[in-house]
Amino acid sequence: MKRIAVLISNKGTGSNLEAIVKAIKSKTIKNAHIVVVVSNKSDALGIQFAKKNKIPTEILDLKEFTKNGQSRGEYDKTLAKLIKDKYNPDLIVLAGWMLIFSNDFIKYFPERIINLHPGLLPEGSAKFVKLRDGTKIEVIRGLYTNDAVKYAIDHNFPFTGSTVHFVTEKVDAGKVILRSEVKILSTDTVESLYRRIKIEEHKILPKAIKLFCENKI
Ligand code: GRF
Repeated sequence: MKRIAVLISNKGTGSNLEAIVKAIKSKTIKNAHIVVVVSNKSDALGIQFAKKNKIPTEILDLKEFTKNGQSRGEYDKTLAKLIKDKYNPDLIVLAGWMLIFSNDFIKYFPERIINLHPGLLPEGSAKFVKLRDGTKIEVIRGLYTNDAVKYAIDHNFPFTGSTVHFVTEKVDAGKVILRSEVKILSTDTVESLYRRIKIEEHKILPKAIKLFCENKI
């Protein structure tokens, strides 16, 4: 059994956490269970969902933590140690986690942290990503979800999509596991486009976890 920790924030809806839970319950992912759901905010919707589903939860509020003079690096280290010592996960899934981790966190889980990115990412730190039909589009890094979707519309991208990739110190530049392209329609708003991206996210994130758990990555 692979042990999974899912990290979320209060900026999302927890829908990707739900998609993972569903894939485990339906045995699409056979050999894994979620050992903890972690958030930096107690009002994250995914925390309520986790509690309803009897999954252990942990909250470590960054603002609370740093108000007594502790650094962001110390936050990353404390969170990493809490997760590692108490839950010892095989895989960390960032499913709407909004804080960028430093090496103080990453070094505790080498090649065991994956992230869901609301855009198409290439391998490494290239500035362009090649689509299935050969078109090259600019890479969107470091933007929050709605901003990333808006950027793709505002810059007339033909496609955007979603990527599951490994987390490294270089933001949004780790090895790509799965990518799904979504065509942008001339009638699209951020809401309509994001809705279609989410449908893809709910497929590729559980699929990437399944691959990891079957040692196929
Ligand atoms: C996802 O759209 C993902 O791309 C981004 O955060 C969002 C979380 O969505 N990193 P949800 O909370 O799972 O609905």
